[in-house]
Amino acid sequence: MAKDYSVYFNRPSLKQAKKRKIKETPKVDFNAHPNLRHLGRGKQYLIKTYGCQGNEADSETMKGILETLGFTETYEETQADLIILNTCAIRENAENRVFGELGRLKKQKNNNPDLILGVAGCMPQEEDVTDRILKKFHYVDLVFGTHNIHKLPDYLESAMLGKERVIEVFSNEGQIVENLPKKRENDTKAYVNIMFGCDEFCTYCIVPYTRGKERSRDPEDILDEISTLIDQGYQEVTLLGQNVNAYGRDFTDKAYTFADLLNDVGQMSIPRVRFTTSHPNDFDDTAIEALASHDNMMPHIHLPVQSGSNKVLKRMNRKYTKESYLDLVRRIKAALPDVSLTTDIIVGFPGETEDDFLETLDLVRRVDFEGAFTFVFSARKGTPAAKFEDQTPLEEKKARLQRLNQFINDGFLKGHQRFKGETVEVLVDGTSKKDDTILAGYTKHNKLVNFPGTREHISKRLFVDVHEAKTWFLKGAIHEDA
Ligand code: 5AD
Ligand code: SF4
Repeated sequence: MAKDYSVYFNRPSLKQAKKRKIKETPKVDFNAHPNLRHLGRGKQYLIKTYGCQGNEADSETMKGILETLGFTETYEETQADLIILNTCAIRENAENRVFGELGRLKKQKNNNPDLILGVAGCMPQEEDVTDRILKKFHYVDLVFGTHNIHKLPDYLESAMLGKERVIEVFSNEGQIVENLPKKRENDTKAYVNIMFGCDEFCTYCIVPYTRGKERSRDPEDILDEISTLIDQGYQEVTLLGQNVNAYGRDFTDKAYTFADLLNDVGQMSIPRVRFTTSHPNDFDDTAIEALASHDNMMPHIHLPVQSGSNKVLKRMNRKYTKESYLDLVRRIKAALPDVSLTTDIIVGFPGETEDDFLETLDLVRRVDFEGAFTFVFSARKGTPAAKFEDQTPLEEKKARLQRLNQFINDGFLKGHQRFKGETVEVLVDGTSKKDDTILAGYTKHNKLVNFPGTREHISKRLFVDVHEAKTWFLKGAIHEDA
């Protein structure tokens, strides 16, 4: 049922979001009002997450908050009293999926008028999206963005008790909220946010607008979080940020960099440390040295290159060249000889010619990437590249993507073949989807391995002999002495 009126209305503005006003980010602690602690008693929630690990981590926070309010989780739409879509704005098709899903959920809302339906995450940060939801999706009760997840208890109070439609999106990031409860999806591997936002402004990318200015968490808060995870038995942490190499750049009271953080986490007793995502321009030798100095730093680096053409890189505002990227790769491989490198590549950026594309293929060949996320350029309204006039036709973009993927798949297979006949350490995630006598886990190099085993092996680190290398995974058997 459509709600009569809205509260808290705060309209998003991408233009406003572009401004980098604050220098220092105030820190506050999360605290749900005691009166709201029973708001969700007897009620069930379902959160659907789209997009990157940043969104996955945010969903864990939303779940933590909801459980503080007494809600329990369900995976059945028909059972849910609250459904939240935590959305991604990075490409148009990600957004179309969410609008499709919203259309489909109308039926659910008709069946259960008390159902609270929410849209959160990056999409509401775009004014066009929020306007469209306001106009066309009257049955959406709750719209909030990436900067105000901690206010979820208040929004729910208004939506559930006040029967009001709540829309609040902040276009400026205000603060870092600590002590947020989290319901972690996995009990051996955890995401740890080290920073929020991005100041790079690559010309194709909506993230600096939807996620705001770069803000680094205090090292003490990060190290405390990891200590707690160690006490809870976690074996792997992934340090998260849009550009982790810029970590600490915004501190005004101390000089503490990503390399310092790696060195501090390197001395902790967490067996596996990963991080994502890196920007080649900010990846310096001190970080490489830190990675090489600690055994718990995993030998896999995701290093998005986007293109191999200097002309395209310049128009993307990536601030490095094909040559400087290759030099960085050379320095990384010199310090970490068996490292596995993966990347992100966009094809069909405005003005990309066949020759530019061939430069990308050449770079892929020279780096020996062992995996990549590949995309066709998607024009995002509000970003500079969306206004470039020399857009590449869709057919051309798709044809290039296919050609690139062939190269990348060869790299994937080669990356797996180098482990055939080796014994590798695997952190076991669980059973394979198709067969519960087969276990699945990841190696230090982040390669998926399937092997026969039993449930008691789950969550352990085991040695596995690799017998077969496929394009998408390795096959093996538990090492006899293990
Ligand atoms: N079109 C296509 N791909 C994009 N990415 C970011 N913005 C766009 C866009 N407008 C890709 C980049 C980035 C990854 C997370 O998504 O490759 O590294
Ligand atoms: Fe987007 Fe570039 Fe920031 Fe990555 S570094 S989030 S691609 S603007």
